[in-house]
This record gives sequence, C-alpha cells and structure tokens, in this order.
Amino acid sequence: MTPAQLTCILLPIVLAIHCHKAPPSQSSSQVTLRPSLPDSRRELSIASKNGRDLFKKNCAMCHGLEGLGDGVNAPNLSPPPRNFRNLAFAKQRTVHHIFHVISQGGIQNHLSANMPAWGKSFKLYEQWDLVAYIDQIARTELQKVRLENRSALPNQTPSKK
Ligand code: HEC
Repeated sequence: MTPAQLTCILLPIVLAIHCHKAPPSQSSSQVTLRPSLPDSRRELSIASKNGRDLFKKNCAMCHGLEGLGDGVNAPNLSPPPRNFRNLAFAKQRTVHHIFHVISQGGIQNHLSANMPAWGKSFKLYEQWDLVAYIDQIARTELQKVRLENRSALPNQTPSKK
C-alpha cells in the first residue's frame, strides 16, 4: 500500500472520529455558560417571595395585602398609605426611593409620618427583599396596562383611504 492510498483510507476515519467527538465538547461548554441566567432569576424571585412574606406581616395592615393601599388601618390615615398599583407611582418609582422610605420612614423622605422607619427592625437584605416585592407589584401593573394597550392597537391603525 502506498502512503497516498493509506491517507485515503485513514483520513475519512480520522475525520469521522473527530466529528463524532466534537458535539459533546461543544455542549459541555454550553452547560457551563448557561446556569448564570436562570440562577439570577431564581434569586430575584426568592427575594420578592421573602419580601411578600415580610410585607404580609408588617405592611399589609396599612398598604393592603395586594398593595392597593386598602389595609385595615387605611381609613384612619391621612394621607392614605401608598397604593403600589397606582400608575403614577409605578412609572415614577425607583428602587432607591423605595429603599430609602422603607429604611428611614416617611418623614425623612417628605412623606407622611405615619409611614414608619424599618431600618432598625429589618436586616439590610430583608429591606431589599421588600423593595423587590413592591417593585414587582408595580412592574406587573405596568405590564398589564401595556398588554391592554397592545390589544387595543388594531383599532388605532389608520384606515386606508
Ligand atoms: C401604619 C401604617 C403603615 C405601615 C405599617 C406601613 N406603611 Fe408604608 N406608608 C404609609 C403611609 C401613610 C405612607 C405615605 C403616603 C404619603 O405620604 O403619601 C407610606 C408610604 C410608603 C412608601 C412610599 C411610597 C411613595 O409613593 O413614595 C413605601 C415604599 C412604603 N410605604 C413601604 C412600606 C413597607 C415596605 C412597609 C412594611 C415594612 C410599610 N410601608 C408599612 C403607611 C404605612
């Protein structure tokens, strides 16, 4: 057998082995890259779930279980506790503002003195969990409105003349 003949026989075999091996090494690099995204999403939802539990125990009596500002204490308060589903609040909110009000209370942030300061009652991560929950309530409300607007869009398309 000449070297050229040998190459003709061996090359396809070498290529076949190489190609056969390639996919597993590709997919193993995908496996190491992928987890970061789902993990960070899971962490966010754990934060807002923990925030919801804290909210039910400590805030719902004023802000209402669903954050509508309609807790049992609400009728006695003027101004009323914030409704976190209010669109103006949802649009203007920043997580920093929400955090500062929770941590320092209303009066420090030019809001009602009836909003207590929680900075000494909760650990820092618990305060941020509360922020995550309130932020999620407001974001969900905005998304709902966007979806409603989208379903109204066909009617707004200019008609052909
Ligand atoms: C005793 C009633 C009461 C309790 C309990 C209470 N709040 Fe409030 N909260 C208020 C009132 C009143 C306001 C101020 C509304 C205003 O001044 O317009 C307010 C305002 C806020 C704001 C600011 C909203 C804005 O528009 O700037 C946040 C955020 C907030 N509360 C979060 C919480 C969280 C989180 C808890 C529980 C850990 C909590 N509140 C418990 C009564 C309460």
